[in-house]
Amino acid sequence: MEFNKTIKIELTEDAFRRMDETPDDQFYRIPRFTSHIDQGAIDAVTKLYRQYFLPNSHILDLMSSWLSHLPEDIHYNHVVGLGMNEREMARNKQLDDWVVHDLNINPRLPFIENSFDAAAICVSIDYLIDPVTVLKDVGRILKQGAPIIITYSNRYFESKATAAWLYLSDEQRAYLIRSFLVKAECFDDIALMDCSPKYGDPLYAVIAKAI
Ligand SMILES: C[S@@+](CC[C@H](N)C(=O)[O-])C[C@H]1O[C@@H](n2cnc3c(N)ncnc32)[C@H](O)[C@@H]1O
Repeated sequence: MEFNKTIKIELTEDAFRRMDETPDDQFYRIPRFTSHIDQGAIDAVTKLYRQYFLPNSHILDLMSSWLSHLPEDIHYNHVVGLGMNEREMARNKQLDDWVVHDLNINPRLPFIENSFDAAAICVSIDYLIDPVTVLKDVGRILKQGAPIIITYSNRYFESKATAAWLYLSDEQRAYLIRSFLVKAECFDDIALMDCSPKYGDPLYAVIAKAI
């Protein structure tokens, strides 16, 4: 897929409604030790991290689980996970630290400004009901020039994904994420990429740099 269109996404008031409006901690209470995308798509995510995340850096894995998909052969100084399920993150061998934090209740991240060299959100942006405020805060905690890599596929928990996500096509979703980053006003060099392997789950990425 080529992302070279001039697509402007206009959202309606109910764009961030979800089929399941119960508090997220109920849905995520049970750990899911499963892969949310297949190995080919995971490899595509790992390849991006290898390309954009510097060795010995301080990384934030936002909306984390028991897998972070970072390259195994690269040393990172400190990797912090933020997600909804403690047992999943406790089993994640790539995390040095983790915090259970509901971004749909409190979009402000529990970290100090300019403290991370990179941030990742893998197959999860579709669950945020206020992604612009969350991304604005990611801009606060990232150092200047730090990359953010947001990846997605065509698989998701339908009841917890926002209406906007459900209505749009895979292609339009990249432009939706770009619009979140633009509205957050703390990123530039926004790139939209199709990193899908030849077979299996597709994998798309929106990458930007903190300003
Ligand atoms: C489909 S899983 C993806 C997990 C992981 N990033 C991966 O690639 O395997 C969605 C993740 O989003 C996190 N999440 C969902 N809603 C959240 C919320 N309101 N606040 C913080 N994290 C949330 C969950 O903890 C869950 O691990």
